[in-house]
Amino acid sequence: MKNKLHKLKDDFFQQLENINGLESLRDLELRFLSRKGELSEIMKGIKDVAGDSRREIGELANEIKKEIQESFQKISEKFVKKENFSFSDPSLPGLKFDQGHLNPITLIQNELEDLFSSLGFMVEDGPEMESDYFNFTALNVPPLHPARDMQDTFYVDLKNEKGEHDVLMRTQTSPVQIRAMLKHGAPLKIVVPGRVFRSESTDARHEHTFYQFEGMVIGKNINFAHLKSLLEIVGQKLFGPDTKLRMRPKFYPFVEPGNNGEYTCFLCQGKGCRVCKNSGWLEIVGAGLIHPDVLRAGGLDPEEYSGLAFGFGLTRLAMLKYNINDNRLFLNGDIKFLEQF
Ligand code: PHE
Repeated sequence: MKNKLHKLKDDFFQQLENINGLESLRDLELRFLSRKGELSEIMKGIKDVAGDSRREIGELANEIKKEIQESFQKISEKFVKKENFSFSDPSLPGLKFDQGHLNPITLIQNELEDLFSSLGFMVEDGPEMESDYFNFTALNVPPLHPARDMQDTFYVDLKNEKGEHDVLMRTQTSPVQIRAMLKHGAPLKIVVPGRVFRSESTDARHEHTFYQFEGMVIGKNINFAHLKSLLEIVGQKLFGPDTKLRMRPKFYPFVEPGNNGEYTCFLCQGKGCRVCKNSGWLEIVGAGLIHPDVLRAGGLDPEEYSGLAFGFGLTRLAMLKYNINDNRLFLNGDIKFLEQF
């Protein structure tokens, strides 16, 4: 056994002389140092050696192994340097860096902002924590008005100078109508994407926090035809050129006349399906001509100016467009959900 080991060592050093490139280096490694190499084979036999000499042989084997490994290391460093070889293997899969994804609500918001910017609208912003006045009273919903019932929200425990509780989480993006009129005057074309809140119990279609997309145009002689053509353009952009719009009366205190805009269902092309509850139409936007009281609250004279306003449920639009069946998915931060967009 001793002889075998010495012979192996001699062999190794002899072979080392003949190394002339990385390929022969690799052969050498396979032959002497790999798990199935000659040295391992010999070492496997050590356990069968009898008594005292086992230890001696074991030590010798380890010594030789170390020597072989060290000289192998040295020579391979020399060759790697010489051939400017780096240990990268181009056949390995690349490193994957996780990339963030935009939330589908942001995607729709960006799409609508692009559309309206191209039509000459400004994108406006407003506070999510809003005064009762801007969220309700200035929009023609005075205290105790029954329309407040439909938009119950989270009230903030802060009082104004008069000692009244006046702060709440806005229930709609409409308060920005008033803020924008006061800030910019008329004429005016704005859109307002934003987060809104209501005191809702949560289920697949209701959430205490969701997104709207408001629009407003104020000018001289703005009329219902402007509103209708604008909403038609939006529908065609979102759901394709054959999309039709129908408008049905609906009460909103801050518009007169008020209506609900419905688009032909893009899934069934108006034939009726599960998504549109077999009606062929999707209820998507509240709209109307701005109520004179609201113009006045914005500091404008309704004899001189008129306006239109509309509000899309952005969350609902994203659900429809991306076929998402539970609105809770938007807010739960699940990366597996977001990665799909
Ligand atoms: N703010 C209304 C809502 O949240 C939508 C709306 C906006 C209706 C503008 C008419 C005009 O339900």
